[in-house]
Amino acid sequence: MAKALVVGGGGREHALAWKLAQSDRINTVFVAPGNAGTAHENGVENIAIAANDVDQLCEFAQLERVNLTVIGPEGPLVEGIVDRFTEKGLRCLGPSGKAAQLEGSKSFAKDFLQRHNIPTAEHQVFSKSTSAFAWLESNEPPFVIKADGLAAGKGVIITHELKEAKQAITQILEEQRFGAAGNQVVIEQFLSGEEVSYICLVSGKEVLPLATSQDHKARDEGDQGPNTGGMGAYSPAPIVDTSLNQRILKQVIEPTVNGLASEGIPYTGFLYAGLMIGEDNVPRVLEFNCRLGDPETQPILMRLNSDLAILCDAVLDGHIADIDVTWDKRCSLGVVMASAGYPDHYDIGLPINGLDRPEADTVKVFHAGTNDRDGQVLTSGGRVLCVTALGSDIESARESVYSTIKTIHWPGSFWRADIGHRALARQKTEHK
Ligand code: AMP
Ligand code: GLY
Repeated sequence: MAKALVVGGGGREHALAWKLAQSDRINTVFVAPGNAGTAHENGVENIAIAANDVDQLCEFAQLERVNLTVIGPEGPLVEGIVDRFTEKGLRCLGPSGKAAQLEGSKSFAKDFLQRHNIPTAEHQVFSKSTSAFAWLESNEPPFVIKADGLAAGKGVIITHELKEAKQAITQILEEQRFGAAGNQVVIEQFLSGEEVSYICLVSGKEVLPLATSQDHKARDEGDQGPNTGGMGAYSPAPIVDTSLNQRILKQVIEPTVNGLASEGIPYTGFLYAGLMIGEDNVPRVLEFNCRLGDPETQPILMRLNSDLAILCDAVLDGHIADIDVTWDKRCSLGVVMASAGYPDHYDIGLPINGLDRPEADTVKVFHAGTNDRDGQVLTSGGRVLCVTALGSDIESARESVYSTIKTIHWPGSFWRADIGHRALARQKTEHK
């Protein structure tokens, strides 16, 4: 029987560990560092190693003879953790450091998209604020300004105000608000439409799309307020019908994996294309992520009937095209419960009550920023839980989620009450 290691400690990693622990191939799943949710999961064990401590992770995997490692967050992927594991003969699912540049550098991704004629917003790259200001002054708002490197979802500023746009550029390029991630700035055309998270497993040129999903990135109801890592998600995404699905594959995913392979950096692992579907129905790439989405993973994995370890092994063995994956026909939806103040300053260490009630088998409370002190679960991050449920439709999944949320408490917890509103509106117009 095999051992698996999941790297990371968020809701995505709880879902990955929970699903891998159900595999007939795996008898122990280690999570580094994990959270209180993974600590309490059957067949799962937390290991006190940080997700970016590549040396220690590598040493641990060798010592324990881990058969399969799955990397959750982008940081260690961009640092080249997969290259390091592979050099040691360890099986590690994710792209190489070079391929992870698709997420690690927005200018790399934008140049790549342009080279391969993949639809995306037009863009300019600047390393000097004077030339960025000159461009802004001769163009019309809204302005979309992005720090080039990794900025934990905070490096994108969208504004109608020239003054605010200039301020953002000064903060990124001059004041180094995002450190080296801000050595360059990308300014791009504003795209309107509906966003879709399109996530695939990729093994070189072979692609296996996962169930479709959409997330809500803004903190407040009505998709208002500051951008966050994601306040909720659901699967499937009703906007992705068969014809849009085909277009996404032909116009975005296939040229991406073929383009990478032709440039000598073949992609392995989860590939997440953040897409904007405009009125013209063209899927345009907003960003690539070199990993699964959080919170999209939670509702997606709730719907996965197949054995996740078999899928991961098939990717590493280089044959996923012939794998038969089955998905639960029901819908799933996850709502993030967050700490007051998130995504800015928030307190941690607050006791969470209501987690000891038995869950229905259609509901799962995935943990993110939690830890366990002597049996009491405490908050330890901004996004704390993702309450996820299956239902015959989005509405019933959503009802189960919100009735579970009512039973969980800690001081200052908040959540959006409208997760799935776009999917519901779409269903209502379709049923008219
Ligand atoms: P990114 O990290 O590049 O995906 O950007 C974060 C969020 O900002 C996206 O999920 C979109 O909601 C928004 N965004 C990014 N680029 C654009 C764009 N060119 N036009 C409109 N919205 C955008
Ligand atoms: N939910 C958005 C992300 O994972 O980047």
